[in-house]
Amino acid sequence: MAQQKGGTGKTTLAANLGVALVASRKVALLDIDPQHTLTRWHELRPKTAPKLTFSNVSGWRVSGELDRLKANHDFVVIDSPPQVDTDARLAIRSADLVLIPMQPSPPDVWAAEGTLKLVAAEKRKAAMVLNRVPPSGKLRETVTTLLQRGGKPLLTATIGNRTGFAIAFASGLAVSETAPRSIAANELGALLSELLEMLE
Ligand SMILES: Nc1ncnc2c1ncn2[C@@H]1O[C@H](COP(=O)(O)OP(=O)(O)OP(=O)(O)O)[C@@H](O)[C@H]1O
Ligand SMILES: [Mg+2]
Repeated sequence: MAQQKGGTGKTTLAANLGVALVASRKVALLDIDPQHTLTRWHELRPKTAPKLTFSNVSGWRVSGELDRLKANHDFVVIDSPPQVDTDARLAIRSADLVLIPMQPSPPDVWAAEGTLKLVAAEKRKAAMVLNRVPPSGKLRETVTTLLQRGGKPLLTATIGNRTGFAIAFASGLAVSETAPRSIAANELGALLSELLEMLE
């Protein structure tokens, strides 16, 4: 997860995608954001919930930790801070796929384009996903058209503005665990399928 703008959904999606993957794969979550939001989420996770390997490191430890986690997991989901510093660059460099969440609004799109350039500079594959999409309005269409015309790697899957994400997060859970039949869980499932298709 990378996006130099703050609050676009990196941590929310890292937690929810990690949990969605754990049903069938060996998953590790790596928090390299000094805010440690994902770490707080993981600390709240009930003991009875499916277990994910969890780690948080920064600085010179990032590379080694990534190698270690990659060696014995099918997926390593990395949550990075809202700026592309040295640590985030290391994460991008070693990623098979960089997911860039953004809200369908100009500031997020501009920041995402900056992040996309950094991913391209590292010769990595990127996917942009619209998050917190309002139920109606022209903004989504305008932004989608703009990105598609620009040949940007925008995913078909989108995530709506759903309070379920915050509710699940507050208990260390994912929407697939608190509300498996919700629209949020469905949208997340569609996002995961699209990402897996890109990776496999
Ligand atoms: N799809 C969504 N629907 C509703 N709320 C959401 C959604 N995605 C994220 N949020 C909320 O938006 C806020 C920011 O989300 P999150 O912490 O995941 O962003 P972030 O990109 O990791 O932020 P930062 O850059 O600070 O690390 C949180 O309060 C979260 O609950
Ligand atoms: Mg975050």
